[in-house]
Amino acid sequence: MAAAASSLASALKRLEGKVALITGGASGIGESSAKLFAKHGAKVVIADVQDDRANSVVAAIGHSDSTFIHCDVSNEDHIKNAVDTTVSKYGKLDIMFNNAFAVDPLKPRIFDIDKSDVERVLSVNVMGVFLGMKHAARVMVPMRSGSIITTTSAATRVAAAATHAYTCSKYAALGLTKNVAAELGKFGIRANCISPYGVATPSVIKFMGLDSREAVEEYFSSIANLKGVVLTEEDVAKAALFLASEEAKYISGENLIIDGGFSNCNAAMDIFQNGES
Ligand SMILES: NC(=O)c1ccc[n+]([C@@H]2O[C@H](COP(=O)([O-])OP(=O)(O)OC[C@H]3O[C@@H](n4cnc5c(N)ncnc54)[C@H](O)[C@@H]3O)[C@@H](O)[C@H]2O)c1
Repeated sequence: MAAAASSLASALKRLEGKVALITGGASGIGESSAKLFAKHGAKVVIADVQDDRANSVVAAIGHSDSTFIHCDVSNEDHIKNAVDTTVSKYGKLDIMFNNAFAVDPLKPRIFDIDKSDVERVLSVNVMGVFLGMKHAARVMVPMRSGSIITTTSAATRVAAAATHAYTCSKYAALGLTKNVAAELGKFGIRANCISPYGVATPSVIKFMGLDSREAVEEYFSSIANLKGVVLTEEDVAKAALFLASEEAKYISGENLIIDGGFSNCNAAMDIFQNGES
C-alpha cells in the first residue's frame, strides 16, 4: 500500500529530475511557477533583480531544491552567468522560462511616448528573451532536448489591450519563439509561448493605479468573457507546467492563450448579449 502510494506520488510529479531556470521568478506568475515546478520535482533557479523577494521564494521552496541568481535579463553577462551557474549547480538545463518583463507608462497618444521608454521595454522583453533563448540553446543543443517557454500576453491576439511598446515587444517575443522552434526542433528542443489575460500581480496592480488586488480582479472579471472564475498566477503556472512537461512533448511553436475566450470575440458585436443569464 505504502509502495503504491509512493509510486503514485512520483507519477504525479510531472517534472521529476528536471532543472528549470525562471526569469522574473521572484514575483507573480514567475513565483507561482517556481513553487509549482518545485512541487512537481524540478530543481528551480530564480533569476531576478528583486533580491529580497527572490530569496524568500527560495526559502519557501527550500534551499536544497532552489537557488537565486541576481540577473538583469537585458544584460548578456548576467544571463550567461545564470545559465552557467544552473548547469554547474544542477548538472543541466531542461526548462528555460523567459518571464521577466518591463512595461511603458500608459499614454493615450503615440506622439507622447518617450523613445527611452520604448527602448527600455524592448531591452527587457525582446533582448532579454533573445538572450535567454541564446544561452539556453547553447547548453540544450548538446543535450538534444529542452523546453523554452516565454510569457507573452493576450495582447498578441487582441489590439488595444496593452501599451504600444509592451504590445510590440510581446509580438516580437512570439515571432522569435516561432523561429527558434523551427531552428531547434532538429535538436529535440521545443519553444512555446503562454499568453495570459489580466492577473492581479504586483506590477499590474501598480500599473493600473488601483489600490488592491481585489479591485484589479474585479475590473478584469467585469470585462472578461468567462464569468464565475478569476484568472490567477497559478492558472498561468499550470499552463507553463504543461508546456515544460513530457505531456507537451510534441507541442512546439505554439502560443497558448489563457484568456477564457476574451480575445476570441468582439464584445461590441455580440449577438448573444440579450440571451438568458
Ligand atoms: N499579470 C498580467 O496581467 C499579465 C498578463 C499578460 C502577460 N503577463 C506577463 O507575465 C509575466 C510575468 O509578469 P507578472 O504579472 O507576474 O509580474 P510581476 O511584477 O509579479 O513579476 C515580474 C518579475 O520580473 C522581474 N523583473 C523585471 N525586470 C527584470 C529584469 N530586467 N531582469 C530580471 N527580472 C526582472 C521583477 O523583479 C518581478 O519579480 C510578464 O512577462 C508579463 O508580461 C502578465
